Amino acid sequence: MNYLTVNDIDNLPEWVEEARSIKQDPLKFKELGKYKTIGLLFFNPSLRTRLSTQKAAQNLGMNSMVMNFDKEGWALEFEDGTIMNQGKPEHIKEAAQVISQFCDIIAIRAFASLEDKSKDQDEMVLNGFAKYATVPIVNMESSVGHPLQAMADAITLAEHVNKKKAKPKVVLSWAPHPKALPHAVANSFVQMMQKQDAEFVITHPEGYELDKKITGDSMIEYDQKKAFKNADFIYTKNWSAFKDYGKVINKDPLWMIDTEKMALTNNAKFMHCLPVRRNVVVGDAVLDSSNSLVIEQANNRTFSAQIVLKKILEEMDLIK
Ligand code: CP
Repeated sequence: MNYLTVNDIDNLPEWVEEARSIKQDPLKFKELGKYKTIGLLFFNPSLRTRLSTQKAAQNLGMNSMVMNFDKEGWALEFEDGTIMNQGKPEHIKEAAQVISQFCDIIAIRAFASLEDKSKDQDEMVLNGFAKYATVPIVNMESSVGHPLQAMADAITLAEHVNKKKAKPKVVLSWAPHPKALPHAVANSFVQMMQKQDAEFVITHPEGYELDKKITGDSMIEYDQKKAFKNADFIYTKNWSAFKDYGKVINKDPLWMIDTEKMALTNNAKFMHCLPVRRNVVVGDAVLDSSNSLVIEQANNRTFSAQIVLKKILEEMDLIK
């Protein structure tokens, strides 16, 4: 079993319940991963993903090996049939097979370049490892998705949803940012929300439409204030344009999340995957308010990773 996208979750409510139960007793399955090793390969920086995935592995009794591939590894060639007489001394074919001999699971972080849409959509790094590794692969944020973040978000939503209300209203709101950011978090959040029984609305300025193949029939409301009305959860994230690929076409500060906008909601909880730029994406007063769930979301990254690793380890045991 690989965990490459949110679509690898076969039953979201069951996974969320199991993750919440693991949260109550994180060491319950500490024997499951004994003598097994996870290799965490980072082609990009991380705080939460690196520490929470290591923590999850540790809770399951696993060893972890971390490699900052961008700084420590040989630059990898991913194209087939290349004459490798330029800067890249190692091919993914050998690298993935070699790492598979040292690790029982390989987890990979490799962001979108935001330069070559077609290469990013092909998930060259993640799929390269999935193709040539001989062990399960976990996506720790790829060009297109961040399914460990989405699983943590699902756990956080379940913990804070008002059970008396039939369907919570959840809004994914774009917010301004000085730099071009990838679509991965927003994409996986959309895919996760499509598996939820909720009223789900995406709001962003015109031109910031996400990949239609991902948003499908999800509702898009270009008027942010209208979208916020009666919302129970505001999930905020910046992303660059998808159509005008990787471009920052709008930095309008009026899209920042502030207390005035939150006042339009049904006393909504505020969510963000972090890291977040204060007073650019969201105002201090919202981020520091008791309605902000960002620290809890980050905490739930451990139990998101733990449920994923547990499922993979259990399947390995079955196959043995
Ligand atoms: N949310 C998230 O993935 O954080 P890091 O980039 O710090 O891992």
